[in-house]
Amino acid sequence: MLPLVRKRSRPGEAHGQGSHEVRFTKVTIYLVERRMGRSRRRILTNLARSKGFYVEDILSGTVTHIVAEGNPAMELWLWLRAQGLPLPARLEVLDISWFTESMQAGEPVPVETRHRIQDSSQQLGTVLTSRVSQYACQRRTTLDNRNKIFTDAFEVLVEHLEFSDSKGPCLAFKRAASVLKSLPSTLRHLGDADGLPCLGEHCRDVLEEIFECGKCSRVEDLMCNEKFRTMKLFTSVFGVGPKTAEKWYHRGLRTLQEVVSQPNVHLNKMQRAGLLYYRDISRGISRAEADAVGRIIAETMHCISPSATMTLTGGFRRGKAFGHDVDYILSTPESGAEEALLLRVIDRLRYQGILLYCDYQESTFDKERIPCRRFEAMDHFPKCFLILKLDAMTVEDGGLQNNPEDQRGWRAVRVDLVAPPADRYAYTLLGWTGSTQFERDLRRFARLERGMLLDNHALYDRNKSILLPAKTEEDIFAHLGLEYIEPWQRNA
Ligand code: UTP
Ligand code: MN
Repeated sequence: MLPLVRKRSRPGEAHGQGSHEVRFTKVTIYLVERRMGRSRRRILTNLARSKGFYVEDILSGTVTHIVAEGNPAMELWLWLRAQGLPLPARLEVLDISWFTESMQAGEPVPVETRHRIQDSSQQLGTVLTSRVSQYACQRRTTLDNRNKIFTDAFEVLVEHLEFSDSKGPCLAFKRAASVLKSLPSTLRHLGDADGLPCLGEHCRDVLEEIFECGKCSRVEDLMCNEKFRTMKLFTSVFGVGPKTAEKWYHRGLRTLQEVVSQPNVHLNKMQRAGLLYYRDISRGISRAEADAVGRIIAETMHCISPSATMTLTGGFRRGKAFGHDVDYILSTPESGAEEALLLRVIDRLRYQGILLYCDYQESTFDKERIPCRRFEAMDHFPKCFLILKLDAMTVEDGGLQNNPEDQRGWRAVRVDLVAPPADRYAYTLLGWTGSTQFERDLRRFARLERGMLLDNHALYDRNKSILLPAKTEEDIFAHLGLEYIEPWQRNA
């Protein structure tokens, strides 16, 4: 490095750079006093300044090299985070060895891995040096998201792009968020994103801004944007997609109250139910409530067919404590009986007076059909999207996740039931367990890496032109030559 001999005037000049010349303008050192001690810190500060290094007395955003001595990594990082400063891109957190070597060399020596104090509460370094797969189905993603600050920002951008139907950029942000969710620890600086897949220029810009300012201006702008907020509100209604929301917005509607009171707004059956039960179904459903729904359906089902079974899928199977709906798979040992079973379950729920809404979709399943390439395609099994009336008495422990002012002793919950033929149970279970991003990448992996087509019904080997049978999810992973990923590791 060529030393630049120049005196810098800085706003912080007063606290002590004194008359020393600053020879290295790209480096601003901050010495951590804890464990080093005040007097040693003062000595080291004077030494560095006499050699032309710029040493900052206070920790600020201009610091590029933080130097600590004798601090256990975890303790140091906890302390650093507690300072409440955004840890800027390319901030180096270094052991005293870098400082000593630089003093000996009379100039800042290049930073090497051995100098860095790794954020070692986590094994980020190890993960970043091993390769992170571009496919979510080759990553293990638990609910413990250490990069929420970044993924939340990406998810707002995703939502915005979904409203404007920009599929490509939307998918890019979804993939980036998914990669970050799989990491065992928080990114420390932009450099950490270097080896990661799916983090293109636009994603890195977002990360960089968050490192520097603690937030992303595009996201901040969206959160205050009237159109974005209105679109979010309208699409949160069951049965309302971006097209309808946009139409309402252009008519000048801004609140749900306005939507329901406008005589010329045409609502379909699903939207009417969505608005009628909005207060309930916009609230999360707890695991205890999901289990209560399960018991009601199980009892109903066993009256009809004692050999039938049911499985909780969706987010709850992945270990989530709350969901927006409850997803159950019903199955019968004898293939062909499932459609009648589902219809009879619905009839009984209606008879019990707890069926508030029902959208039944009959089977269009064809066992010879090759899986569909389009991810968004609906599956062909008989299924229903319901709103059920859940009585507080049926829920164990905590009771209902109701609005406190709703004292009516019941709440409405969204429930999805699907009834595949027995020989397709494993594919259905895998498909409905999610997460959506995990499913998307399973299919992409199958197609691009294995020449196979996968959907909720089947796996087709294009090379051999056969549909591959599977009894369990493990069988499907094995067909794909993938390591088995547990449901709780599929929160991609
Ligand atoms: P959900 O939308 O219920 O998501 O679909 P989730 O992960 O359970 O999230 P919360 O907790 O309810 O908010 C679960 C899975 O079922 C698939 C989806 O693709 C997703 O992976 N699914 C859903 C289908 O395959 N077909 C459908 O008709 C509906
Ligand atoms: Mn769900």
